[in-house]
Amino acid sequence: MTEQFRIALLPGDGIGPEIMAVAVAVLEQVGQLCDLKFEFRAALIGGAAIDQTGQPLPPETLETCRQSDAVLLAAIGGYQWDALPRQQRPETGLLGLRAGLELFANLRPARILPQLVDASSLKREVVEGVDIMVVRELTGGIYFGQPKGIFTTETGQQRGVNTMAYSADEIDRIGRVAFETARQRQGRLCSVDKANVLEVSQLWRDRITALASDYPDVELSHLYVDNAAMQLLRWPKQFDTIVTGNLFGDILSDAAAMLTGSIGMLPSASVGASGPGLFEPVHGSAPDIAGQDRANPLAQVLSAALLLRYGLQQSAAADRIERAVSSLLEQGYRTADIAAAGQTALGCRAMGEALQQQLATALPQS
Ligand code: IPM
Ligand code: MG
Repeated sequence: MTEQFRIALLPGDGIGPEIMAVAVAVLEQVGQLCDLKFEFRAALIGGAAIDQTGQPLPPETLETCRQSDAVLLAAIGGYQWDALPRQQRPETGLLGLRAGLELFANLRPARILPQLVDASSLKREVVEGVDIMVVRELTGGIYFGQPKGIFTTETGQQRGVNTMAYSADEIDRIGRVAFETARQRQGRLCSVDKANVLEVSQLWRDRITALASDYPDVELSHLYVDNAAMQLLRWPKQFDTIVTGNLFGDILSDAAAMLTGSIGMLPSASVGASGPGLFEPVHGSAPDIAGQDRANPLAQVLSAALLLRYGLQQSAAADRIERAVSSLLEQGYRTADIAAAGQTALGCRAMGEALQQQLATALPQS
């Protein structure tokens, strides 16, 4: 019997619509190959939503997402919305979506593909074989802590305030996701905090340490965030799974992404305790190249593969996409961001077409 799924599509801004078009075509095709039927429902988010409705996350969008089996997001943001008040900025829409769907765990894999080792700005021996999973807490910490705002003090000075706060429960639930994730990988978990300075980090470290007794098969270590950033660049192969809070995870996941050569290759998954997960590339909306057919659609396509694997439990379909991407790279297909000197770079659409060709000709198992 054909399985049916509802997928909410949020193309967003900048290169979002271009890369989303490629991912949707690939999903349609893989659906036919694997006997899956997708009902796609597009919704507005970010700048595109601001332009049409005045708000970055219209209530209909959240409702469409809630009624779906999984959500595929491209990217949000652009210069033209940067000067708006914070409540009306594209980023606020994304944060609202994460909070609204209670997606507290953000999984950001940074694995270097053998075909792209030379696209990294670090030496081959440093990055070859890198395979890291950053588990970032996504609905708490300084992104959401209260009080926040720009206040005026008694002396008439302006004062910007954010609060980094975590409750024990918030730490425990992301900690458990991280231990489970590490268990399915190499069994090594590094928790990153700033416990030498911050109380919130002290609690983080205490709770993560306490959880470790439930996971005797996982080897736990701790690093301060400044050292973790340095170690990521010095010898990234020491890491297997990293767990950290919202802000540190935001920063470290970009650094980890760059080890792999291009942030244009990396997908991510955000999940909660129940309900639909959200799947999106790690990269942003790249307004500088939007509409020029120069974007790399592969992170978006690989996000669709993660959606199939973790959002819909369709690993055979996910495998097909991942294998097709890998074999295209093997054959030397590149977009501009990952092309080495002398290699021809394809545009976004042409890369999508090559991928579809590959999917059409590849055998189900290879
Ligand atoms: C990310 C982005 C977002 C974040 C922005 C766009 C709000 O940088 O997903 O890493 O800071 O979480
Ligand atoms: Mg970020």
